[in-house]
Amino acid sequence: MKILLTGAAGQLGNELYPLLSARGEVLAADLYAAGSNAPDCRQADLGDPAELEQLLGDYAPDLVVNAAAYTAVDKAEEDQALASLVNEALPARLATWTRQNGSALVHYSTDYVFDGSSSRPYLEEDPTGPLSVYGATKLAGERAVRSSGCRSLILRTSWVYSSHGHNFVLSMLRLARSNTVLRIVDDQVGCPTWAHNLARVTAACLDSQVMPKSGGCRLFHYSDSTVVSWHGFAAAIFEQASRLGLLENPPQLEKIDTAGYPQAATRPRYSVLDTSELRRATGFEPPGLSQSLMQCLEELIKP
Ligand SMILES: NC(=O)c1ccc[n+]([C@@H]2O[C@H](COP(=O)([O-])OP(=O)(O)OC[C@H]3O[C@@H](n4cnc5c(N)ncnc54)[C@H](OP(=O)(O)O)[C@@H]3O)[C@@H](O)[C@H]2O)c1
Repeated sequence: MKILLTGAAGQLGNELYPLLSARGEVLAADLYAAGSNAPDCRQADLGDPAELEQLLGDYAPDLVVNAAAYTAVDKAEEDQALASLVNEALPARLATWTRQNGSALVHYSTDYVFDGSSSRPYLEEDPTGPLSVYGATKLAGERAVRSSGCRSLILRTSWVYSSHGHNFVLSMLRLARSNTVLRIVDDQVGCPTWAHNLARVTAACLDSQVMPKSGGCRLFHYSDSTVVSWHGFAAAIFEQASRLGLLENPPQLEKIDTAGYPQAATRPRYSVLDTSELRRATGFEPPGLSQSLMQCLEELIKP
């Protein structure tokens, strides 16, 4: 099986590469190939239709795994055109190409397609209502994939972190080195998800044949299992980083509400995803935060 992995230098792309390589021949591609663990990662701007067509035409993949995305949630408020290009036009073109060529597509989306007003975990079919440009462009990408009729799988996930790239864990560790007190939002609740687990569940989906056999899309929610606020997540990071010797003097943590930390993009207050469907379909049990966070932090001390 020939697999095209886009976004190979991102948090998820780096975790996917070894797992996909065990299942087929992988061509990895990203805007800045140097950030990828794939030895021959192709440098390509997939927002450029000509570059995308050339890549698809030359490689002719049986499966496209689209981990490329515009993920700068606040910047997207001012950069809607680029966010739409990467989060909507790119998956739309991938979906059309895979339908026309009898291939299949795995795509990723976000908890930020919801408005956060629910009082129970979100089901796949719950009404969406993005509060931000990022959420709206990701929803538009989902819709393009679903309406294309291609064989596809969409995994919505949340609060992704890993030992590389841009994420809350690495930001907290950086801030902890130069601050004695940190004030962190406590009234937004979600499920931090280790990119490695998201890659593993993607592989489980491929192995358990949950991809529709002919045309059509299956949409699933996946996040790790622990529900926590950003403040609670920060507390877990500092506790484990201290235990591992990554932080000598963890900062004091104070709780604030969303209004105390103004950001360009509005986030949902509650974005817990119900993962029952995917657990039933694959048998994959989402790990909790403490186990995954520890494994992620251990990667930072490996030589
Ligand atoms: N991160 C989260 O907290 C989060 C939460 C929920 C859902 N998700 C979804 O999960 C998926 C994986 O996210 P992630 O955290 O792994 O994102 P990430 O680390 O930002 O990786 C995305 C990759 O796509 C690349 N990319 C962007 N524009 C491109 C273009 N025009 N051509 C080629 N490559 C391009 C990025 O390059 P640059 O870095 O150079 O732009 C980056 O390497 C995405 O669909 C995302 O929307 C993420």
